[in-house]
Amino acid sequence: MNLEIPVRTSSSRYSAYVGRDILSEALETSLSNHPTDKLFVLIDENVFKHHWSRIKPVLHSTGGTVQHMKIPEGEKSKSLESYSGMLDFLLNNGVRRNTPLIVIGGGVTGDVGGFAAATALRGLPLIHIPTTLLAMVDSSIGGKTGINHEAGKNLIGAFYQSAAVIADTLFLDTLPEREWINGLSEVLKYGAIKDRKIFGMAEMFLDQGFKSADVSVLNELISTCIKIKAEIVEQDEFEGGIRAYLNFGHTFAHALEKACHYDTISHGEAVFLGMLAAKKLSELTGSFFTEDYLNKFRSLYTYRVSKERLSLEELTQFMHSDKKRTGKDINFVLLEKWQHPVLKAVNDTQLIHQAWAVALDELEP
Ligand SMILES: NC(=O)c1ccc[n+]([C@@H]2O[C@H](COP(=O)([O-])OP(=O)(O)OC[C@H]3O[C@@H](n4cnc5c(N)ncnc54)[C@H](O)[C@@H]3O)[C@@H](O)[C@H]2O)c1
Repeated sequence: MNLEIPVRTSSSRYSAYVGRDILSEALETSLSNHPTDKLFVLIDENVFKHHWSRIKPVLHSTGGTVQHMKIPEGEKSKSLESYSGMLDFLLNNGVRRNTPLIVIGGGVTGDVGGFAAATALRGLPLIHIPTTLLAMVDSSIGGKTGINHEAGKNLIGAFYQSAAVIADTLFLDTLPEREWINGLSEVLKYGAIKDRKIFGMAEMFLDQGFKSADVSVLNELISTCIKIKAEIVEQDEFEGGIRAYLNFGHTFAHALEKACHYDTISHGEAVFLGMLAAKKLSELTGSFFTEDYLNKFRSLYTYRVSKERLSLEELTQFMHSDKKRTGKDINFVLLEKWQHPVLKAVNDTQLIHQAWAVALDELEP
């Protein structure tokens, strides 16, 4: 089952393709709108190691010259230095405004590579080839690109929509289990804010085992998430309103990532803990939940961070440098009930600390 999902925004219209072993066909279709004799490729180093022998002939079959640059794995690549290296690669090798830039990797490569595409020559045609579950269901869709700054996560960036997204699930065959679990956090986020069915789909998927899951189950899970994100982005491309709901758990998550120096906790792990904290804060501010959908997934996550290394004061302080802050208040995406997200400004530090405690209890002492 191959799927083409339309993504329509005020600035562009493109397709996200989902399916197994679709790279060649989907790339040919995507490039037909961008005729060129040259292709530039930014590729995650691990994806290069596992998949270049399959990708290279597909790229060369397009007829143009292909120049590629490997991006070191990990969040540290979302830096000014790494971004600057990409601009050097593009500009020193004769990129032109119509030269497609193909970005192949997880959310890290996609975010920084997308930002390079957005800014080099004021915008190159960007083809996203996400290779992690997280990037397929979330980061490759919707046009948020960017890098981190010492002051906080994703503080430098641009909204820049892709020309196409190709989610070829064959890439996931080499994805380590830990990365499947990271991606699951963003999947569960869609369940929490929008569609309860996703929890059931995620459970079925886990029961079958990540790598042995039925192709149609995986395709459906990914395409359901993409459709939800596309629908939200279509209504609110620049996060003036409902797009913020996609940040459920993320205000806590970004502070945790910063406290761990973007090293000992992954984005997905931080988002799962962030959702536990956001659910608790929802309860502390008046919501009541009869079911605990996230609880079933808790045992999947293991953390490399010790609770003792984190201070509630510092974590809460870090939330103040997040983009979702106004004045003294911190804006949270909370749940009135499941699938009913709401934006709430909270300035009661005691409540925020109580919410943090629920997340930190998951960590080693
Ligand atoms: N732009 C957005 O809207 C958005 C949304 C959600 C998250 N994000 C960002 O996404 C990032 C996290 O993305 P991620 O979880 O994909 O992490 P990642 O890009 O760091 O990839 C995780 C790991 O998997 C490896 N990898 C990637 N594909 C592989 C494959 N097919 N086989 C084997 N190994 C593979 C990578 O080398 C890396 O070690 C964070 O920086 C987060 O802020 C952005």
